[in-house]
Amino acid sequence: MPRIEATLIPGDGIGPEVTAATLRSLEALGAPFDWDVQPGGLAGIEVHGNPLPEPLLESIRRTKLALKGPLTTPVGGGFRSINVRLREEFQLYANLRPNRTMVAGGRYENIDIVLIRENLEGLYVAFEHYIPVGDDPYAVAISSGVNTRSGSTRIARYAFEYALKHGRKKVTIIHKANVLKALTGIFLEAARDVGREYEGRVAMDDRIVDACAMQLVLNPWQFDVILATNLFGDILSDEIAGLVGGLGTAPGANIGDKAAIFEAVHGSAPDIAGRGIANPLALMLAAALMLDHTGNIELAHRYRAAIDATLLNRATRTRDLGGNATTEQFTDAVVAQLGGALP
Ligand code: NAI
Ligand code: MG
Repeated sequence: MPRIEATLIPGDGIGPEVTAATLRSLEALGAPFDWDVQPGGLAGIEVHGNPLPEPLLESIRRTKLALKGPLTTPVGGGFRSINVRLREEFQLYANLRPNRTMVAGGRYENIDIVLIRENLEGLYVAFEHYIPVGDDPYAVAISSGVNTRSGSTRIARYAFEYALKHGRKKVTIIHKANVLKALTGIFLEAARDVGREYEGRVAMDDRIVDACAMQLVLNPWQFDVILATNLFGDILSDEIAGLVGGLGTAPGANIGDKAAIFEAVHGSAPDIAGRGIANPLALMLAAALMLDHTGNIELAHRYRAAIDATLLNRATRTRDLGGNATTEQFTDAVVAQLGGALP
């Protein structure tokens, strides 16, 4: 199997714990990654005086592939969000968030929804300013969103190609074109244009965002792939994570033409860092996405099957999923499912 060089950012807080667990399971799986380990976030500040050090960027420029632990964005000190900077730097226009029911007995069974969010445009360009009135310098707040036809077409193409490649039946386009006629109208129009090219292969429909939010709660099973602008995608992806039991099971991928970065949706969880109880599941599922992305479909399938089998046994689940296993015990169980030897 050809080896694939990839950047590894262990991250802050529980980051090093969940990345070590993920690496151990990937090794048991026989995943073909060779890791270039690079500090970022607080670790980046310690080593290089910068949360997003140049050697880290240089590494991703070379490997075009990264697995990233959660990074603590320092409060104050003028640091911009590291995640936003990485997205911009590598033009990671697609945010992929698959969510499926991992543990039975929650609010909903058998949910399997992939949310694809435009990652660079919309209201998140944050072109904002205030207009003073009288003696109030902040009397009026203005924000301009930017959606381009090319950006909308690009993310729609990504969504329909994803659906095709992964045997998905339908893409639902999310918008608010009844009110934000220009900003979300162009997105709807561009996405429909792309969708028509897939007629007979992938079905297409659309929803107004607020109606979608309600229908996700009433009947989430009607959704397959959801395609959304930046802000609506941000909100709906957290809602969908909530349907399947919260952030602990949610992986995410940020994908562009020049690079792709895979991560857990959760943060660095400083409240439980260093205690050996963090759930590495979300980062493992992010690594499974990385296997998909690099064409290692068979390995990804085996990996997910081993994780699913491990979760069937309550005793080997971590505390956030109702068990009492440590990070290490959960990882041992995944490694055992993969047929690997335990330390
Ligand atoms: P968080 O996701 O780190 O924690 C929220 C709650 O979920 C905490 O109670 C935590 O213990 C729990 N939790 C999170 N991941 C868990 C896991 N794997 N296993 C078990 N429990 C888990 O969110 P919070 O506290 O808002 O943010 C903490 C730091 O993380 C901040 O500095 C924030 O900027 C950063 N962050 C980084 C992200 C990234 O790098 N992608 C994403 C979100 C937050
Ligand atoms: Mg969010």
